[in-house]
Amino acid sequence: MSQIVKPTVAFGLIVAAAIGMAPAAFADEPAPLKIGYVNGYSGPFAIFGQEADAAIAAFMQEHGDVVAGRKIVILKRDTTGPNPDVVHRVAQELITRDHVEMILGGDYTPNALAMAGPSTEAKVPVLIVNAATTSILDHAPYEVRFGFTTSQVAVPYGRWAVAHGYTKIFAIYTDYGPGLEAGAAFKKSFVEAGGTIVGEVKPPLRSPDYSAYVQRAKDSNPQAIFIFAPAGEHPQAFLKAYKDSGLKEAGVKILATGDLTDELQFDALGDDTLGMYTVFHYSEDHDSALNHRFVQEFYKHAPPHVRPDFGGVCTYDVFQALYKVIEAQNGKLDPDKTIALLKGMKFESPRGPIMIDQNRDIVQNVYVREVRKVDGKLQNVEIDTVPWVDDHGNEVKTN
Ligand code: PHB
Repeated sequence: MSQIVKPTVAFGLIVAAAIGMAPAAFADEPAPLKIGYVNGYSGPFAIFGQEADAAIAAFMQEHGDVVAGRKIVILKRDTTGPNPDVVHRVAQELITRDHVEMILGGDYTPNALAMAGPSTEAKVPVLIVNAATTSILDHAPYEVRFGFTTSQVAVPYGRWAVAHGYTKIFAIYTDYGPGLEAGAAFKKSFVEAGGTIVGEVKPPLRSPDYSAYVQRAKDSNPQAIFIFAPAGEHPQAFLKAYKDSGLKEAGVKILATGDLTDELQFDALGDDTLGMYTVFHYSEDHDSALNHRFVQEFYKHAPPHVRPDFGGVCTYDVFQALYKVIEAQNGKLDPDKTIALLKGMKFESPRGPIMIDQNRDIVQNVYVREVRKVDGKLQNVEIDTVPWVDDHGNEVKTN
C-alpha cells in the first residue's frame, strides 16, 4: 500500500518554485496588493516625496496596511519633477513589469497626461493627487482627480476680488495647462463681476525669473496682482521679484492661488508673505477634528523641515479612497467596478467634505485665506468659504 504524503508548506514552496508559480498561491492568505505611488523624490522636488511619505505613514498608522485581507505594498517611483517622458516609462513599467493594480500620484499636469496612455490601455485606475488642468480627465478614462482644478479656485476668486474692492488687476500665470486655465477662469469671472484686467503676462514653466514680468505689472499701475504659479521653484522666484520691485511698500496686494504660499515652503518664503491673500482647497490651519488628527500624526512621521500641504492631504485622501474601493470589492479589484464605486463617493477629508462627481472630478469647498502668524508660525488662515465647487468653478448642490 502506498503511503499518502501530505504536502508540507516547504514542499509546496519547492513545487511552486519548480513550476514557476508564486509561493502565495499555496498559502491561505491572498497575494499582496501592489500599488504604484508616483511623485517627486529627487532634486528640488524631493521634499514633495518626503511629504507624501509622511502622509502615507500617518494614514497607515491609523488604518493599518492590510485591507480586506490583502497586504498593501507600495512601489514608489520618482517623477523627477514635471517630466512626462520619465513618468510615461515609470507608469508603463509599474503596469507591465510590476503588475500594480492601481497607481496613485500625478503631481504635475504633463505627468498625469503621460500616465493616461498606459492606464487606459491596461485599464489600471490612476488616482490623481494634484495635477490641476480640467481637461486631463477627457484624455484618461481610468483617471480620477482628488486634488483640485485651477478653474475651481480661480472662478470664485474673481468674484471675491471685486466684492472686496480689487477692480484693477494685473494677471500673471504660468504658460502651461493649469496656468492658462487659471488665467482664463479668473479673468472671466472677474470681468463679469465688473473688474478690469490692466495687463497680463505668461512666464514659462522652466527656469522662472520674474523680474521683467513684475516690472511689466508695475508699469500697468494695478491695485493688485493675480498670480497662478505652480508650487516648487516658482513661489520663491516670484516673491523675490515682488520684494525687489517695491510693490509691497506701494500697497499693491497679491491675490494668488494657494500654490504660492505652500506650507512646505513657508519657512523659505518668510515674513514677506504676511498679508497675502490666496485661494485654495487645503490649509494646514483648517479647523476640523480630522485635520487636527492628520496634522498631529503627520508631524510624527515627517522630517523636521517638512510641513503638511495640499499634496500631503490629497495623498492621505487617495489612500482613503483606495481602502474604500478595496473593502467594497472584498480585496479583488476590478477596474471598471473601481471607477463606478469612485463616482459619487463622498467622504470627510482633512480639508473638509469632498465628493467625486460622475465625471470623475473633485467637488469640494474653496477657501480664501490670508497669511498670518499663528502661534509664531506662518499659516494660511481661512477667512471665507465657498462651499461645494466643481472642477469648472460652479457651486453645486449636494445632499
Ligand atoms: C499642475 O501641473 O497641474 C500643477 C502643479 C503644481 C501646482 C498646481 C498645479 O501647484
